[in-house]
Amino acid sequence: MTSATGRAGPASNAAAAGTWKLGDRSVNRIGFGAMRLTANADGTPSDRDRAIAVLRRAMDLGVNHIDTAAFYFSPLRSANELINRALAPYPDDLVITSKVGPGKDPSGHWLDMARPDQLRGQVEENLRQLGRDHLDVVNLRRLPSVGSIAEHFGALADLRAAGLIRHLGISAVNGGHLAEATTIAPVVCVQNRYGIGVRTDDPGLLRTCGEQGIAFVPFFAIAGEGGAAGPGGPADQEVRTVARAHGATAAQVRLAWTLQRGPHVLAIPGTGNPDHLAANVAAGALRLSADEMHRLGGE
Ligand SMILES: NC(=O)c1ccc[n+]([C@@H]2O[C@H](COP(=O)([O-])OP(=O)(O)OC[C@H]3O[C@@H](n4cnc5c(N)ncnc54)[C@H](OP(=O)(O)O)[C@@H]3O)[C@@H](O)[C@H]2O)c1
Repeated sequence: MTSATGRAGPASNAAAAGTWKLGDRSVNRIGFGAMRLTANADGTPSDRDRAIAVLRRAMDLGVNHIDTAAFYFSPLRSANELINRALAPYPDDLVITSKVGPGKDPSGHWLDMARPDQLRGQVEENLRQLGRDHLDVVNLRRLPSVGSIAEHFGALADLRAAGLIRHLGISAVNGGHLAEATTIAPVVCVQNRYGIGVRTDDPGLLRTCGEQGIAFVPFFAIAGEGGAAGPGGPADQEVRTVARAHGATAAQVRLAWTLQRGPHVLAIPGTGNPDHLAANVAAGALRLSADEMHRLGGE
C-alpha cells in the first residue's frame, strides 16, 4: 500500500533504539503519543496543518507506533481525526494503539469508567474516527474506581475474538491486574506512568513485563511529575548535568533513561512541536552510562 506520507528512503531514525514486537507486529521502540496534538499548552485548539505536519514528519523519521484515544480531543480537534487525515491510507507497518475505559462527553467533561458492555461502543468510536475496520492494539485504561479488571478485560477479549481488535494491553495497573488479565487473554503491553523521579505503586512491574515478553510503555516519561501540565516541575539538576555531558536536552535524557530500563520498554513521547518531535526521535540514539543510569535512579 502506498502511504499518504510517501514514506521512503533509508532514514529510519526511530529504529535507532531497536524494535519490539507487539504480538505479531514489530514496532520501533521510539513511537509517538497523540495526546498533545489537539491543543496548545494554554488549552486553545492546535493549528490543524501543524498537527498534520507533525504526524507526517513522524512517519518520515521512522515512527511506526502511535498511541491515541477517542477521548483525546479539544473543542476543534480530535487526535484520531488528525491521524486519519494525515496518514490514511495508513502505511502497512504502522501500529496504532488506542485506549478505552475512560470517556468524555461531547463537551469534553470526563465521564466515569465505562461499563464492560459500553466498551464495544468505545472501540467502534475509535474505528469510525480512524477509518479502520480493526484496531491494532487496544489498552484497557483502568480508573482507580475499578478494582478487578476481569469483566472489562473479558469484554475486550470478546471484541478481539470477534476481530475488532488484534492485540490487547492494559494501562494504569499493577502486577495483580496483569496476572488477572493474562488468565483471560494475551497481554502485549502495559502502559503506566513512569519516568525519572516518578513514584510508582508497583516498581517490580517493569521487570515482570520483561520476563513475560510484554512491552512496558511509559506515559509522562518527559513530563514526569509535571503530568498533564507538561514539564515544569522542580528542576532536576542531575538530569540537566547528564544532558550537558551529552550535548542533549533534559527531555532526551528522560526518554533515553526509560529506554535503557529494558529492551521491552517503548517510548511514546507526546508533542505538537516539530522540533521536539525530531529531538525525541533522536533520543533513541542516546546511550547513558551505567553510572549515569545509577545517578538518575536506575539500577
Ligand atoms: N494511559 C494513560 O493513562 C495515558 C495518560 C497520559 C498520556 N498517555 C499517552 O502517553 C503519551 C505521552 O504522554 P504526554 O504526551 O502527556 O507526556 P510526555 O511525552 O511525557 O511529555 C509531553 C510534554 O513534554 C513536552 N515535550 C515533548 N517533547 C519535548 C522535548 N523534546 N523538549 C521539551 N519538551 C517536550 C510537550 O510539549 P510540546 O507539545 O510543546 O512539545 C508536552 O508538554 C501521550 O501523548 C498519550 O498518548 C497515556
